[in-house]
Amino acid sequence: MDENLLQPEPNPEDNELSLRPSFLNEYIGQNEIKNKLKIYIQAALERSEPLDHVLLYGPPGLGKTTLSLVIANEMKANIKTTTGPAIEKAGDLVALLNELNPGDVLFIDEIHRIPKQVEEVLYSAMEDFFIDIVVGQGPSAHSIHFNLPPFTLIGATTRAGLLSAPLRDRFGISEHMQYYSISDLQEIAYRTAKIFDTDIGKDGALELALRSRGTPRILNRLLKRVRDFAQIERQSSIDYQIVNKSLNALHVDNVGLDEHDLKYLDVLINRFKGGPAGLGAIASNTGDEAETLEELIEPYLIQIGYVQRTSRGRIATSKAYEHLKIEHQGDLL
Ligand SMILES: Nc1ncnc2c1ncn2[C@@H]1O[C@H](COP(=O)(O)OP(=O)(O)OP(=O)(O)O)[C@@H](O)[C@H]1O
Ligand SMILES: [Mg+2]
Repeated sequence: MDENLLQPEPNPEDNELSLRPSFLNEYIGQNEIKNKLKIYIQAALERSEPLDHVLLYGPPGLGKTTLSLVIANEMKANIKTTTGPAIEKAGDLVALLNELNPGDVLFIDEIHRIPKQVEEVLYSAMEDFFIDIVVGQGPSAHSIHFNLPPFTLIGATTRAGLLSAPLRDRFGISEHMQYYSISDLQEIAYRTAKIFDTDIGKDGALELALRSRGTPRILNRLLKRVRDFAQIERQSSIDYQIVNKSLNALHVDNVGLDEHDLKYLDVLINRFKGGPAGLGAIASNTGDEAETLEELIEPYLIQIGYVQRTSRGRIATSKAYEHLKIEHQGDLL
């Protein structure tokens, strides 16, 4: 199978730009976050102030980058985008901040990956819109004070736990992006199909939604592949049959699990008798990095109630046994 099909990470060929909604009313789902943002944005606009700094966190592919662009649009603000790893030295950040105009949005993706020394420069920039940088060394060292225009920092991260408390505390607005409901994913399927000029029926959209792990990026990617199957089979509309047939061919099972997820469950259930098992022990058996499992595989398995994370380790639930059609002895969660 295509190794990357179910990975919620972006691929270069995803061509996500054309699929990105530009305004809040086109942005499907995440209703709680949207409702709050509408109020904060309107209030800031009425006061002619920039929006408070925003932190968006949650699993990959849920629309953090998209929402950041939407926020900037709604604020009628210019947006400059960068990523944590691209900012290596304090000077890189100073250069970025120096280019900002009043009201601009600075978007830092993967903000958990900015180095510690750089983070410290951000503190005063975020809190009081200035930076002090030290130039020179020894007795001739002195600091230069820069005032910055008021701006909005939007940070996105899949690993909020890795942010230091002082950085996290400087975001006035901090929102946890949730996996999408089936009906929201169906809506996204209709929207994407329309952009592709492809017809999709209700049962086709439902099946696609059920198998997309609550993640719009995965849904869009699967829809592209299903569209290929439909085209070659000369099907004018995407229905349940063609979705089922294509996704089976792609080894995406009926709840959206792929070989990596099934391997994880197989190890937890068969090698560790359902757990509790430590993440490191599972990783060395599946041959993955512990971090990959924690970031990409486990969140969805936990979300659908197949795995529980306990203080003693990971445990497979009865749902997981049922899904794999494995008998179990004794009581299970
Ligand atoms: N609410 C939504 N409505 C419609 N499409 C969406 C929505 N959210 C995300 N998408 C689509 O899903 C894809 C992934 O979104 P995006 O790149 O914003 O995710 P992300 O959370 O930033 O992911 P990562 O953590 O990998 O950076 C995009 O193609 C986008 O168009
Ligand atoms: Mg992103």
